[in-house]
Amino acid sequence: MATERTLSIIKPDAVAKNVIGEIYSRFEKAGLSIVAARMVHLSQQQAEGFYAEHKARPFFGDLVSFMTSGPVMIQVLEGENAVVTHRDLMGATNPADAAPGTIRADFAQSIDENAVHGSDSAESAAREIAYFFTEDQLCARTR
Ligand code: PPS
Repeated sequence: MATERTLSIIKPDAVAKNVIGEIYSRFEKAGLSIVAARMVHLSQQQAEGFYAEHKARPFFGDLVSFMTSGPVMIQVLEGENAVVTHRDLMGATNPADAAPGTIRADFAQSIDENAVHGSDSAESAAREIAYFFTEDQLCARTR
């Protein structure tokens, strides 16, 4: 299986709960390495641009409002099958449907405040990583 990269965002609700380290630990235990990271308080423009594909959805305004309500932690994860591995760790979008032991089952309150984001395909990952990081900000693992 090929090594790939995916974009992860720890959302404002989970940052406020002080569980960044707990979530990072789950990534590492699953074999995912953090190759770039930064904490950002997203502007409305940044959040609207990131979620542009959902602009017509009824929840778009609430989603942008939530994502700009506090800082988020954004990271690029690298590992074998990283997109699917990460989405398995996150659990279903609605925490009520998320399997026990997943990040959303453990830390999310509702579909509106669901703790984490993860790219849903390799194509989305490439676009989302480029939205927040330049190529020279991605650190290759050398050892
Ligand atoms: S889809 O159809 O698969 O693209 O939709 P989905 O991935 O389920 O959701 C897209 C993003 O919107 C968030 N979402 C919501 N936010 C607020 N309210 C409601 N009802 C809602 N439903 C979905 C969902 O968490 C997705 O954001 P990310 O950041 O990708 O988790």
